[in-house]
Amino acid sequence: MNTFKSSMLIIIFTIGCLFASCTKDKTSKELSVSDQNFNSDWLFLKDTVDNGQNVFLDDSSWRKLNLPHDWAIEGPFKKGSDLRTGGLPVYGEAWYRKHFTVDKKYSSKQISIEFDGAMNNAKVWLNGTYIGERPYGYIGFEFDLTPHIKFGEDNVIAVQLSPEDLAARWYPGAGIYRNVRLKINSLVHIPQWGTYITTPEVTDEQATVSIKTTIKNANMSSSDIVLETILKDEKGTVVGSNSSSVVIQKSAEKDITQTIKIAKPKRWDIKTPVLYTASSNVLIDGNIVDSYDSEFGVRTIDFDANKGFILNGKQVELNGVCMHHDQGALGTAINYRAKERQMQIMQSMGVNALRTSHNPPSPELLQVCDRLGIVVIVEAFDEWKMGKVPNGYNKYFDQWHEKDLRDMIQRDRNHPSVIMWSIGNEILEQSKEDGWKLTKHLNDICHDEDNTRPTTIGFNYYPAPFVNKLAYQVDIVGMNYWPLSYTEIKEQNPNMILYGSETSSQTSSRGVYHFPIEAAVQKETNHVSSYDGVVGPPWAYLPDAEFDAQEKNPFSLGEFIWTGFDYIGEPTPYAGKDNSTNGRWTLDWPSRSSYFAPVDLCGFPKDRYFLYQSQWTTEPMVHVLPHWNWEGKEGDVIPVYAYTNCDEVELIVNGKSLGKKVKGVDTTKVPAEFHDFEKGMYTSKYRLSWDVPYQPGSIKVIGYKNGKAVAEKEIKTAESPAKIHLIADRTEIKADGNDLSFITVKIEDVSGNLCPIAANDVNFEVTGEGTLAAVDNGDQTAITSFQANHRKAFNGLCLLVVKSKNDAGEIKITASSEGLKSETIIVKTK
Ligand code: GAL
Repeated sequence: MNTFKSSMLIIIFTIGCLFASCTKDKTSKELSVSDQNFNSDWLFLKDTVDNGQNVFLDDSSWRKLNLPHDWAIEGPFKKGSDLRTGGLPVYGEAWYRKHFTVDKKYSSKQISIEFDGAMNNAKVWLNGTYIGERPYGYIGFEFDLTPHIKFGEDNVIAVQLSPEDLAARWYPGAGIYRNVRLKINSLVHIPQWGTYITTPEVTDEQATVSIKTTIKNANMSSSDIVLETILKDEKGTVVGSNSSSVVIQKSAEKDITQTIKIAKPKRWDIKTPVLYTASSNVLIDGNIVDSYDSEFGVRTIDFDANKGFILNGKQVELNGVCMHHDQGALGTAINYRAKERQMQIMQSMGVNALRTSHNPPSPELLQVCDRLGIVVIVEAFDEWKMGKVPNGYNKYFDQWHEKDLRDMIQRDRNHPSVIMWSIGNEILEQSKEDGWKLTKHLNDICHDEDNTRPTTIGFNYYPAPFVNKLAYQVDIVGMNYWPLSYTEIKEQNPNMILYGSETSSQTSSRGVYHFPIEAAVQKETNHVSSYDGVVGPPWAYLPDAEFDAQEKNPFSLGEFIWTGFDYIGEPTPYAGKDNSTNGRWTLDWPSRSSYFAPVDLCGFPKDRYFLYQSQWTTEPMVHVLPHWNWEGKEGDVIPVYAYTNCDEVELIVNGKSLGKKVKGVDTTKVPAEFHDFEKGMYTSKYRLSWDVPYQPGSIKVIGYKNGKAVAEKEIKTAESPAKIHLIADRTEIKADGNDLSFITVKIEDVSGNLCPIAANDVNFEVTGEGTLAAVDNGDQTAITSFQANHRKAFNGLCLLVVKSKNDAGEIKITASSEGLKSETIIVKTK
């Protein structure tokens, strides 16, 4: 098909209550009970335990903690362990146990436990009885506990995790790293992921909303129920409702479809991510026995083979990023604020789209994207039957793929941000003649669960997916690292909808510059130069080459760069196999996190961030590199690059103008010799450059639009480090035991200039109503613990993350370092 059209209104299952503070609006508390936050007071042991499920096991010495929890991020980094997963302890056996009581008054209820994901190979027991298991760590699951609960007495839930070594190509984390809820439901209730809403028609005047609600009757007799659905706008004003009377047979489930019209609907859009709320109430004899709140948005999506992606009738170029799921130094333990900050930083670079490479995301990430206005490709798998690593998902594929894929879609299909289902990344079946069969099977599952969104795959073995016909079994073809083939593929397949599902894979280290700029990989420090000539895996190429390819092929939906944030693991180009270690990537220690992104592991922008910003944003900006502290190089020529979205840039060195350069006309030679397809120097029209003989002082760039100066940036030669400067991203956070303040720690000279090569070790003291959650500096080779109370600056910067406690008050943060003036700041918690 050459266009994929869907017009829909989306409902977000609000996942019961993710946070303790969130309660459902129940009018009849006796009959209808909220989901319980079930994250607190677990016991943990990272060891093998015989019969860890045994009710009488003495667990009094186990560590007490709250979920979500990632044990691997606690380290230590270990030489000899797989650097592909970050050199961290991501495998082994561990147990979590929780003692809890369910009041006798609930003895007639349905009790279940819902995990948003547990890494990896989760097995669950209640009071010694085996309840169930789920191998894939990225998928949510729920188990019915009702038959085994002892009401009014101590119950023990035990979870065994046994992630394997060599099971991932990136840092997967380890532990019950997503949220857990205990659900107390009436016998008649709306089960997990029980609503699905589409809008068959949307106009400016009216949206027709179709809501399919599943109702379960666990009674031994049939029930007469009323389903009442109420839609509200952002202010809580009711904008529509419907009520249906239905009989549900005993021990059965029934789907009820209702239609509600909203007059003059406000659209969910990238710039205006408007969300509505839907409340579904189930009533028996006039009493509410279950209610189910949801957020939703109204939008239309359309994919056209020539015009690209169309949101609410307007073409939108996808300026996308691929992201793994870790949150840098915080590891994988899901934190709403950490995700929100990541995506806000991405938005500030000009990002409007995300690909959740290469697995189902946390529910929180999709909530963040719904609220910020970022469209999402939700990806299911990195492997099918053919494995990429010895203990990969391929081991579970046959038994679990259908359930995992259906569950992913049922959980996520109500998010307005989600626009495509990706059924795979670079799956090895591309090279198989019958690879199309499995593709068709997975594609059909997606359409069966949700026919309002297209399917896609990120293909890489050009032309294998075309020869073997996999590319013809998905709605939209994603191409990983093929910018030079877009035109040819389109010529051969004029009706195909295409985009760059993974692009560039350029690498760099923040604030590092190597001379001559052609110097590619250098072995002394395991860093990569931020002049951003091509350094990366053999398939890597300059961001500039993709910009050019997108411009020349306007039919493309856009691109998704690899990656938005640096992530833990896969430290290419400092990554290699050592045959003596059973295929582990152990060479090039201590490189332990990726170099791919325009933003480092802390979220600090590298120079490349501004290259993307210059292409993806319109608010006038200009950026200049490198830093201007080149002691010993006086008189040497230093290449100076400028990135801008203005028409022209003037460079001023030590007060003297070196003239203006015009973007697109005055091009820049960028080293590209690392890459197969572009040997030598690449001529980029996206960068401006000057050769400047170095003298200390300053370099300043001024961006001009229509002849008018509209943006500028200056870098001064810094004197020696004199003081610490702390900048909190938020000085007031919620006193909920979860909220975070991210504090940028800058090493400055006496005049407040950033010292661009400072490496001072900074000590942190955090007192009052908060704790130190993590430290980092963005150096891909640093093996200091992410939980240490000190951190060396890397090129003048490091990061401190503090977390609130449950009591309101003040968090006092003091940073000190020998020979530097220390600084104290206060973050309030409310
Ligand atoms: C791709 C792969 C990604 C990542 C990237 C690094 O082939 O899909 O997961 O490994 O290469 O360049």
